[in-house]
Amino acid sequence: MTKHKFPPIVVLTGAGVSAESGLPTFRGTGGLWQGYRVEEVANPAAFRRHPELVHDFYNWRRKALLDPRVQPNPAHRALAELQQLVGPEHFYLVTQNVDDLHERAGAKQVHHLHGELLKVRCSETGEVWPWVTDLHVETPHPSRPELRGTLRPHIVWFGEQPLKLTEVYRHLQQCGLFIAIGTSGNVYPAAGFVQATPPGCRRIELNLEDTPTSPEFHEHRRGPAGDLVPALVRELQVLWDSSSSEC
Ligand code: APR
Repeated sequence: MTKHKFPPIVVLTGAGVSAESGLPTFRGTGGLWQGYRVEEVANPAAFRRHPELVHDFYNWRRKALLDPRVQPNPAHRALAELQQLVGPEHFYLVTQNVDDLHERAGAKQVHHLHGELLKVRCSETGEVWPWVTDLHVETPHPSRPELRGTLRPHIVWFGEQPLKLTEVYRHLQQCGLFIAIGTSGNVYPAAGFVQATPPGCRRIELNLEDTPTSPEFHEHRRGPAGDLVPALVRELQVLWDSSSSEC
């Protein structure tokens, strides 16, 4: 068995990792949809009050993601390569993004804290299905024709509980390297993940600019994820090759 002196790695990504693939971030310029901030449409009350507006928002985002020009960028690919190198037991990727670009770049077991745009859920039965077409209030239910209007995007809305938080914290508490990529550190609980890492954990923030959580990190690399992530992964590959030893 090969025993590695390499610490378990946790990577947290945000909208910035997909920006160079052409998907808009939430809080950068142009992070609005028809004049709405995401907080105004991505919440249960908005869905109860005007479900079609919320469906339109997600139909627009689903179409944007399925545009053939939107492809994984070098940051997504480098993370998949790192996971391949160190193995899934050493590498936990948790993303706030609801796109599937990490998976399309080859990453496995990606944890989508805020849900997935290409899935739909029944709020009555909890069933989840892959979904690539528009969704509307009157869309027929895939398994229970008597249910009407219970289908919703499989997205965690503001005020709802992010998915599998216990599993995330278990990985955070055991990691020796925590890397936050392209997230503004505005939305909790993800913005607080860095503080859940153990003493001695190496914390690196990759972003275009400083964020409110920058002071929590030991290292700050500034620039586009498409450049920074491949460079960091190359460094880690060298470290990995020099650290692994048979035993
Ligand atoms: N490379 C690196 N970082 C980038 C790039 C890039 N090319 N482009 C933008 N960024 C950075 C921005 O500087 C910003 O800090 O990515 C971050 C994007 O921040 P947000 O738009 O707030 O996205 P995110 O942090 O993922 O938002 C968290 O808020 O709206 C909710 O549920 C939604 O998951 C989302 C959550």
